[in-house]
Amino acid sequence: MYEVTLVPGDGIGPEVTDSACKVIAATGVKIQWDRFDFVGYSAIEKFGHPLPDEILDSIRSNRLSLKGPVTTPVAEGFRSVNVTLRQKLDLYVNLRICKQLQGIRTPFSDVDLVIFRENTEGLYSGIESYDERLEIAESIARISRKGSQRVLRYAFEWVVANQRRLLTVVHKANVLKLSTGLFLREALSIADEFPNIMFNQFIVDNMAMQLVLRPQAFDCIVTTNLFGDILSDLCAGLVGGLGIVPGANIGDEVAVFEAVHGSAPDIAGSGKANPTALIRSASLLLHHIGEIKAAQKIEWAVCRLYEEGQCLTADVGGTASTDGVTNEIIQLIHQSPI
Ligand code: NAI
Ligand code: MG
Repeated sequence: MYEVTLVPGDGIGPEVTDSACKVIAATGVKIQWDRFDFVGYSAIEKFGHPLPDEILDSIRSNRLSLKGPVTTPVAEGFRSVNVTLRQKLDLYVNLRICKQLQGIRTPFSDVDLVIFRENTEGLYSGIESYDERLEIAESIARISRKGSQRVLRYAFEWVVANQRRLLTVVHKANVLKLSTGLFLREALSIADEFPNIMFNQFIVDNMAMQLVLRPQAFDCIVTTNLFGDILSDLCAGLVGGLGIVPGANIGDEVAVFEAVHGSAPDIAGSGKANPTALIRSASLLLHHIGEIKAAQKIEWAVCRLYEEGQCLTADVGGTASTDGVTNEIIQLIHQSPI
């Protein structure tokens, strides 16, 4: 029996985490969930703070969490719970897997991209100020050598361990010479230690265009926090949208698994949310704890669901509900040959 911290979040979060928990249960892996329903707005109302210490303590003690999205107010209000959680738990790698699923129609075939986003610093460092008198706002992009090295090293080692073909570092070192320049220089220096890995570099604006024109030319991408945030939504779009792309926040001690998508307030409560992204994040969690067969069963069931194409949510061209997709994936898990 594993003990895992469950943070359903808000918006579509509770709907998709409920699906993911049911799917894990269907694999036979027993998890005791340490569940925290109040986070973000609801935690402010109840406890006066968007990210109660109890949640962080539970994740630190279990070293593992499955998390739904949490809404962040735009241009005002409390600081992002998601960013704070990643920083407080020192989850320095944000791994996002954008792989084409057969059955989802997109302009491309064979897109298979893995993004390593630096997850604790850069423009998300939280160093912001507003000078009332001068009417000037500042957000500081703090990038450290140590912070760059650890995510870069993780990416290189992952590429070797998973026998991938190419790692691309994305930066804006032509303009942001010191901050993303530091990230690029560290990448070049670590690349020297991995002579067998194909490695190249792109400036972020060109990279955005290259990805849209010829995504198959890329394989694994490592970049700073803001660029990784933006490019990973772009890459999700290349393979059919945010509804299917899983993710993981990884540190030396702790890992928090969550989808790339947010709380999707436009469809929350309507039963339209695609649970696939969080279900696949749950599969990554199972893989992380060594439950490889259970993880493979989930991936097999998800692939079958899309190949069959009969039970899909609206974001990928169907009419099925969140529960409909969840139940179908559970049925498929029971039929899995794994
Ligand atoms: P979003 O990812 O919530 O939604 C973008 C678009 O994708 C919307 O049209 C939405 O309906 C659709 N979408 C997202 N997930 C879907 C799913 N599973 N099934 C079907 N359609 C889906 O991004 P948005 O609207 O920019 O942000 C909404 C809120 O979420 C904001 O408060 C933001 O701060 C927060 N957010 C939280 C994240 C997290 O908790 N890790 C990550 C990203 C955003
Ligand atoms: Mg994002």
